[in-house]
Amino acid sequence: MATTLVIGNGGREQALAWKLSLSPSVEKVYVAPGNGGSKGKIENVDIGFEDVINLVKFAKENNIDLTVIGQESASEAGVVDAFNEEGLTIFGPDKAAIKIESSKAFSKDLMKSENIPTAEYRNFTDSQEAKKYALSRGFPIVIKADGLAGGKGVIIANNEEEIDKALDQIMIKKIFGLSGDKVVIEDFLRGKEASMHALSDGTNTVLFPPSQDHKQIFDNDQGPNTGGMGAYAPVNWMDEDQLNYVKEHIVEPALKGLKDRDREFIGCLYPGLMVKQDEIKVVEFNGRFGDPETEVYMRLLDGDLYEILLACAKGNLDSSMINWKSGYAVTVVLASPGYPGKYDKGLPISGVSDAEKLEDIVIFHAGTEIKDGQLLTAGGRVLNVTSTGETMDEALAKVYKAVDLIKFDGMQYRTDIGKRPQ
Ligand code: AMP
Ligand code: GLY
Repeated sequence: MATTLVIGNGGREQALAWKLSLSPSVEKVYVAPGNGGSKGKIENVDIGFEDVINLVKFAKENNIDLTVIGQESASEAGVVDAFNEEGLTIFGPDKAAIKIESSKAFSKDLMKSENIPTAEYRNFTDSQEAKKYALSRGFPIVIKADGLAGGKGVIIANNEEEIDKALDQIMIKKIFGLSGDKVVIEDFLRGKEASMHALSDGTNTVLFPPSQDHKQIFDNDQGPNTGGMGAYAPVNWMDEDQLNYVKEHIVEPALKGLKDRDREFIGCLYPGLMVKQDEIKVVEFNGRFGDPETEVYMRLLDGDLYEILLACAKGNLDSSMINWKSGYAVTVVLASPGYPGKYDKGLPISGVSDAEKLEDIVIFHAGTEIKDGQLLTAGGRVLNVTSTGETMDEALAKVYKAVDLIKFDGMQYRTDIGKRPQ
């Protein structure tokens, strides 16, 4: 029987841990550092996701058969490189390959040279030059910090003042630290957003069905962007031709481009797309599973996640391992008051165990902790309530019935997940 380790502390990692725990080959799933949702076969380990030395030590001492990267900063910190050096089996891109996410300037240059469709852009290290170019392109214009910024490094400017403010914050005040040494200025894209996920073992690639995140905090896509307030899959407004296009013109050239640059990618490549009837463009590449997309994928996956990720890590991924249940899955994120700005922590949460008893409901914790037996809020995104259904309407009715049972002071959630005009 296998022992596994998942690195990260969000709802995504709980969803991966949950699916791993359902594998008949898995007896134990550790999550480092995890959250208040770990129970049964799933156990937290108090090691941070960038603590390379202690993660390696833990994996060795506990004979971990497979480690899975959830949080991208673990790849950036060199966890995969260190595990590879020690001969430990790990799923996720190494430091060289994660550059497709960790540098937006690198990612855009890669897209350009591989002819991957994306918005027109230029990279800048000088804020005056950046401003001049931004003004020359018209509004709205998109300004992106080059490096990892926890999903917050993208600013859409609608006038000169907003350009000045964005460049000042990113490049002068460095609110995202060194991530702001360089910026990408790119044209604003219109269309519907979709998330694609593709597993790659370095040679073989398998695409998941498309999903859709809901980024803004409020209903009808109002208010500031968040890490994601809910998701559903599959997206039924993308057809077979469009999915083939994504595979042939986006995923495969990106993987080949990385390989050609000695940055072979093993893990989950997640392009965020802007889709129009006759045109699909890449908004960005991520080198990891999406959150909250993973919470719905894990509800729909008909396969043994342990066998799949192990095969991926060992270079023998086979598409026959990955099948999908019929119907739909949806997740609604319950967030703290104030999120995505400053938020309180330590608020008592009630109703989770009652909600979990409802048919087809699984709840993945994100920002929670247990203190003296009481479940408390401990982060911006607190819980992911997930459901499945043969139809989208059925999945939605079930999920919101469960949401109604859960309470904490100032709880925020969107009531329109999966209801966007399609
Ligand atoms: P990213 O972190 O690059 O995914 O950007 C976060 C969000 O900003 C995306 O999900 C989009 O909603 C929006 N965004 C980023 N780039 C563009 C663009 N070029 N045009 C329109 N919206 C964008
Ligand atoms: N779903 C947004 C993200 O994972 O970046």
